[in-house]
Amino acid sequence: AMEPSSVPAPQPLPGAVRPERVALRRHYLMCRPEHFAVTYAINPWMDPAAGADAARAVAQWESLRAAYLALGHRVSLIDPIEGLPDMVFAANGALVVGGRVYGARFAHPERAAEGPVYAEWLRRNGFPNVLEATHTNEGEGDFLVLDEVILAGTGFRTDLAAHQEAQEFLGRPVVTLRLVDARFYHLDTALFPLGGGNVAYHPGAFSPGSRAVLERLFPDAVLAGARDAEVLGLNAVCDGRNVVINAEAAGLIDALERNGYHPVPVDLSELRKAGGGPKCCTLELRAAPGAHVDGPA
Ligand code: ARG
Repeated sequence: AMEPSSVPAPQPLPGAVRPERVALRRHYLMCRPEHFAVTYAINPWMDPAAGADAARAVAQWESLRAAYLALGHRVSLIDPIEGLPDMVFAANGALVVGGRVYGARFAHPERAAEGPVYAEWLRRNGFPNVLEATHTNEGEGDFLVLDEVILAGTGFRTDLAAHQEAQEFLGRPVVTLRLVDARFYHLDTALFPLGGGNVAYHPGAFSPGSRAVLERLFPDAVLAGARDAEVLGLNAVCDGRNVVINAEAAGLIDALERNGYHPVPVDLSELRKAGGGPKCCTLELRAAPGAHVDGPA
């Protein structure tokens, strides 16, 4: 018997496709943890009795910085200040979008001094358009920037009113997400943007309503379970292709690879004693469109 001539060519199964992921060069601001310590507890990761080792933190942080440079990104540095042990977590210092700076206003007095320090550095290094926030917000800890929207966390640190304030100042739609697990007190401990309008996240960190919002906005999201979340695997930095991520997040690293991304594992276990990972150490500086790429900073 003859084969019918109209047999369709075999089609790849959905999920068997490995789309090309494209990395874009980024500009990051970082702060060397010379004065890193755990001397107070403002999240469940921090145990002042156990403390932390600044020299070890510096060595691990240097490997993070080296990873960014090896990927071709640009890294600027802000001077650390004695007495501000959490200043290494640059992500919390501001939110920078289109050359505009929405300044941080910290929830806890222990970190309050960091907001003006980061704002001043940005003013002097090519980002003069700074809004001093009226409402409590911890910068990119709770605001994550995608091409079309900004995702914003609330529940532990950043006030709902700051979401509205950021939307008005930046002219980008801000989508509120409610965090419900104290271990994942900042949005960037539970979710990270992958580029191309997609994200990775840990559903357990979010309220039922916010989970439904995430499912609707990101039907193709990479989901992470409790194991990966508990080593701060979601506190990762993706440039569109490469994902700088805590090495212990083995399941998530596999899932990212299967989805066509290139994981770059780093060991930041000392900084995790303060509740931070790669993303916490990294503030992205997004210049105004048309601005000089190699300008100040
Ligand atoms: N100890 C710091 C705090 O609790 C850690 C901040 C981590 N930063 C972040 N973007 N999640 O404020």
